[in-house]
Amino acid sequence: MSTPPPPAGPTRNLSDDALTRAVLASFDGAPSPRFRTVAQSLVRHLHAFVAEIEPTEEEWATAIDFLTRTGHITDERRQEFILLSDVLGVSMLVIGINHRVPDGATESTVFGPFFVAGAPVVRNGDDIANGAPGAPCLMAGRVLSVDGTPLGGALIDVWQADEAGFYDVQYADLGAARGRAQLRTDPDGRFSFWSVLPTAYPIPADGPVGELLAAAGRGPMRPAHVHFMVSAPGHATLITHVFVAGDEHLDGDAVFGVKASLIAPFERHQPGTAPDGRTLAEPYYTMHYDLVLAPAPDPAPDPAPDPAPAPAPAPQEKTP
Ligand code: BEZ
Ligand code: FE
Repeated sequence: MSTPPPPAGPTRNLSDDALTRAVLASFDGAPSPRFRTVAQSLVRHLHAFVAEIEPTEEEWATAIDFLTRTGHITDERRQEFILLSDVLGVSMLVIGINHRVPDGATESTVFGPFFVAGAPVVRNGDDIANGAPGAPCLMAGRVLSVDGTPLGGALIDVWQADEAGFYDVQYADLGAARGRAQLRTDPDGRFSFWSVLPTAYPIPADGPVGELLAAAGRGPMRPAHVHFMVSAPGHATLITHVFVAGDEHLDGDAVFGVKASLIAPFERHQPGTAPDGRTLAEPYYTMHYDLVLAPAPDPAPDPAPDPAPAPAPAPQEKTP
């Protein structure tokens, strides 16, 4: 004699819609309201996505394999999940949400994987190329507050790819920083350094993200740019690029990082004496860009207090 099936509970024998509702409800008791909001939104969107595309089981296994390989190729030197977020435009969405700067402040863009903390400290006017191949380029500007106040002593990190499209850290055994430095603005907020003309380059495309781009018929190129990270007391740290005007990839950035306000002319000059008095026997470039910092955000408000615990039951008189 067969045993009758158990009675259907709230997580049994569910239709697709009821399944979604049951999974949502399974997070109702999460103690953190923020976690509950995020998890339930994820479930809602993920279920809607699956309902819309109706994947075959092979397709779903392919998706799981893609994510598995994205994890396996990730280590302390390579972060394929961030690259995935970059090429899906999610990194720029998150930046947009968190860096709504006031008028006049320099806009932010992606951080990228090639920053190195603790780059060599140089003085204004120094050459940070350190042998990197490329046309000499004098980059200069000021760091300012949105009200135009020059910010002396602001800390600038700068890093860029060379003429071959590689960052120093992409060369095996280079052992020295090239096209990368830290410097401080002078009392008038000015900075300047020599480096090389930045060149367009492909993002790392030899992993799952590269497969995704190929499947989409998309290219891996980023338009030529130089990275800046700028910090000064009382101001929000700025992470941005200055893009080279005229670059052919400005409208096809693989990571959607270009903003019109971040494009600057890099002017070509014949051999001769540069504005800082350096004599060059070859053509060279100059770029001027002011980096304007937004005020530091107000400190985050205290998180909503936890709901008051239910009052302890009043001690009961023992009934005889
Ligand atoms: C970069 O500009 O260095 C970069 C940004 C996002 C992905 C890959 C590279
Ligand atoms: Fe870059």
